[in-house]
Amino acid sequence: MIKWKSQYNTKIVKIDNQHKKLIDILNEIDGLSLGTINNSDLFEIGVELINYSKYHFSTEEKIMKKYDYYGYEYHKEQHLQFVKEIKNIIDRSNGIGMMLLSALNNFLKEWIIDHLLGVDQELSEFLISIGADEIEEEE
Ligand SMILES: [Fe+2]
Ligand SMILES: [Fe+2]
Repeated sequence: MIKWKSQYNTKIVKIDNQHKKLIDILNEIDGLSLGTINNSDLFEIGVELINYSKYHFSTEEKIMKKYDYYGYEYHKEQHLQFVKEIKNIIDRSNGIGMMLLSALNNFLKEWIIDHLLGVDQELSEFLISIGADEIEEEE
């Protein structure tokens, strides 16, 4: 279970709201019980996670491009790798039951906290430094 912490705040309202929703999905996965979940449930929530992640990543990438962010390529690559890894885990879970649910959980928690505190914070500092944070809030 991931609880929202103040240090996750990017101060870009649009991004923070999406991060909260993303964490909600992660917590939903975390709440799935190994005993009761079946492959199709896992697949369904996996698809939700992938779709919402892609949506959120494209929001950030559009912002990065708009403001000519120096870290665009690296940050975008992190997003790509995340989606790839989720797809991998879900593919591998096919046929061998729910054994990979805890692997998925661990990966998700580690990645999201790392990403929120790392590259997303760096992006936020950049946006604030050029005064772009308020422009995004209005959109
Ligand atoms: Fe993000
Ligand atoms: Fe990001």
